[in-house]
Amino acid sequence: MKAPRGTQDLLPGVTEQWQYVEEKLKELTKNYHYKEIRTPIFEHTELFQRSVGDTTDIVQKEMYTFTDKGDRSITLRPEGTASVARSYVEHKLFGLPNQPTKLFYVGPMFRYERPQQGRMRQFVQFGVEVLGSADPAIDAEVMSLAMNAYRSLGLKSLKLVINSLGDKESREKHRQALVDHFSPVVDELCNDCQSRLHTNPLRILDCKKDRDHPKMKDAPSILDYLNDYSKEYFEKVKAYLDAMNIPYEVDPNLVRGLDYYNHTAFEIMSDAEGFGAITTLSGGGRYNGLVQELGGPETPGIGFALSIERLLMALEKEGVELPIDDQLDCFVVSLGDEANLKAAAVVNELRQAGVQVDKDYQGKKFKGQFKSADRLKAKYVLVLGDDELANNQISVKNMETGDQEAVSFDQLTTYIKGKL
Ligand code: HAM
Repeated sequence: MKAPRGTQDLLPGVTEQWQYVEEKLKELTKNYHYKEIRTPIFEHTELFQRSVGDTTDIVQKEMYTFTDKGDRSITLRPEGTASVARSYVEHKLFGLPNQPTKLFYVGPMFRYERPQQGRMRQFVQFGVEVLGSADPAIDAEVMSLAMNAYRSLGLKSLKLVINSLGDKESREKHRQALVDHFSPVVDELCNDCQSRLHTNPLRILDCKKDRDHPKMKDAPSILDYLNDYSKEYFEKVKAYLDAMNIPYEVDPNLVRGLDYYNHTAFEIMSDAEGFGAITTLSGGGRYNGLVQELGGPETPGIGFALSIERLLMALEKEGVELPIDDQLDCFVVSLGDEANLKAAAVVNELRQAGVQVDKDYQGKKFKGQFKSADRLKAKYVLVLGDDELANNQISVKNMETGDQEAVSFDQLTTYIKGKL
């Protein structure tokens, strides 16, 4: 039996990297004062149809949807924003005194995509959502958090690409311009774009198949259709990024694949050599109508998400070594029935005192036990033989210096804690 296509087992050696990265990301959210939210891994299918959007690839092609035994249509979440907005409405978080509501989440998401490097069917997103602020400064804060998530882990080859999708009015005008522009050549576009022309013409702009069509070059740019409010909003977002010294590029063709966006949209790409076809590390944007769409009060929102898979891929490509401590504090070596009993007691006592300790459980001889201690990179090897037992002592060997000392049992914990 193998794990399903597009999923992976994370084994010891790799899980430490995940723990390290997740821990770092959580630390970062503390600095930015975001609180964790945990929502269910499955939701009513309708939630994603209404938020991510009926015409998007995610909803049309990529959802893991099934009917449960109660005849409900259930979907494994393909992303986190919809669930967070649903939860915000359901629990009336808008009523809490401290606004905006700043949340983060880490957890598995599911999309039935064609698996390749950096594209999985189960992947883990870390994301943040801010609900209840239409201040352009918060857009810049979210982008700063996203950039710092990578920087704090040592990544350097990053590019922040931003765009404005404008408000409803701006988008309507732009949409019409796109329909007018592409209609005369609709037969030359791919099948997907032919239907996008009427359902979601904006998505034509980021179609991989039609990228080189001559009509792409002079396609109407959303930036030319922004009304005054949208234009001014975008200018302020850029001013905040400038003030925070965060470099960015404006790309009017950045459209994002989910329907709930308006105003600010952004992606972070890797510039690292050999990164392969998928260079987008994370994406996000503003979604001012979403909470209302889900039955809540009119509430602006913005957020972003990254996948840990792509983050680890970028770290590998940039040759960043995570400072993971894989050493063991102590390994207890013992021989003989009586010494083995004493060893179990010593191990137990040290562990309760917060020391990382292991011992042999395979009946190995002295030499084999020392080898294990070496392989496990033990800082100290504690040796218990007949002589030690007779003297109520244990030999403590510092594996780095080779120094050895006899320590009485009742002093051992204090001694080891002092050394570590
Ligand atoms: P998204 O662009 O669909 O946006 O996904 C965000 C990130 O999730 C991507 O940039 C990528 O790092 C990762 N990702 C997506 N699909 C896969 C996959 N199949 N395998 C590995 N990683 C993947 C969203 O999901 C929005 N909810 C982001 C957001 C939050 N917008 C506002 N708030």
